Amino acid sequence: MKALILAGGKGTRLKPLTNTIAKQLLPVANKPILFYVLDQIKEAGITDVGIIISPETSPHIREAVRNGSRWDVQITYILQPEPLGLAHAVKTAQGFLDDSPFLMFLGDNLIQGGIAQFVERFNRDSPDALILLKPVKETHLFGIADLDEAGKVCHIEEKPEHPKSNLAVIGVYLFSPAVHEAIEHIKPSWRGELEITDTIQRLIDTGKNVQSYILDGWWLDTGKKDDLLEANRVVLDDFLERDIKGDIDVASQIVGRVEVRQGAKIKSSIIRGPVSIAEDCRIRNSFIGPFTSVGANTVVENSSIEHTVILENSRISKIERLADSVIGKSTEVLKQEQGFNALRLFLGDDAKVEL
Ligand code: TTP
Repeated sequence: MKALILAGGKGTRLKPLTNTIAKQLLPVANKPILFYVLDQIKEAGITDVGIIISPETSPHIREAVRNGSRWDVQITYILQPEPLGLAHAVKTAQGFLDDSPFLMFLGDNLIQGGIAQFVERFNRDSPDALILLKPVKETHLFGIADLDEAGKVCHIEEKPEHPKSNLAVIGVYLFSPAVHEAIEHIKPSWRGELEITDTIQRLIDTGKNVQSYILDGWWLDTGKKDDLLEANRVVLDDFLERDIKGDIDVASQIVGRVEVRQGAKIKSSIIRGPVSIAEDCRIRNSFIGPFTSVGANTVVENSSIEHTVILENSRISKIERLADSVIGKSTEVLKQEQGFNALRLFLGDDAKVEL
């Protein structure tokens, strides 16, 4: 069994962050999303891993994952020159996949509880495909699967008006090599992409055995700003444990599940978990409230923050209440003392400010 992680694409919906970082590397609880994916692949016993990269994501992903020794897996990078769809990514990876069955994992998706059970089921039953499904409310936004009593997939409909179920196809799939022939026969969709849902439908139409697995735990797709905040909230809530390695002065109070990594210094502040504070941060005279992650080497002074993700090397100063925000790397958010009643901004392309 091999694994194929899709870490190409353009990440348009997460601009401007994706101007300088691949969206699969955005941090959730101060760890890149892609690293959770690699942890789960390794945990499921798969060590031969292909990663689809795009010209935009390539340098970032290669630098972060390198040769995979951190996970003790072997990494093959596969360049997809244009994001022409998930099935196109599989087609691009055909040389790497050869005639092996494989797990396909979207590099910006997170699922609770790992994938080992799912891989075991595939190995036990040897279907042509096994797709992961999750009940959703907004059926009109997803590919929706219709199942028979035995859990076999009869039909998949993309963004249906009259859905036959509430089971959405999510970002983890297992395929036998039969998938390659199916991809040869599908045509690009209205948006010009080779769609994985059309591929699965083709497998069904040609009498192949497409099984389903309904995920009990959460599934997070981190494609947009609010999704990233939600992923950060859920992961901090579920996984974070109290772990204080940095320096806390006597005037500070650390309440609940708070992680303060090596080299971080907290002075005269209140930190109310779940909160993750990365290496070498400096927090002074501030309140950091629940569901906040502060990236390495960031400074927070005389401010109050909650439900926010801040990347590394940033500075937040004299901000009375910062909430529901995502702040990129090396960004400054400052309030000037002089009572100067104007906003003075120096923002990059695609930035968004809400006042
Ligand atoms: P999307 O979130 O659909 O892709 P995107 O990065 O193009 O996002 P946006 O709409 O904001 O521009 O894709 C899900 C995952 O699959 C993501 O990790 C990128 C990856 N992907 C590829 O590797 N190749 C592709 O051709 C596509 C469409 C996506």
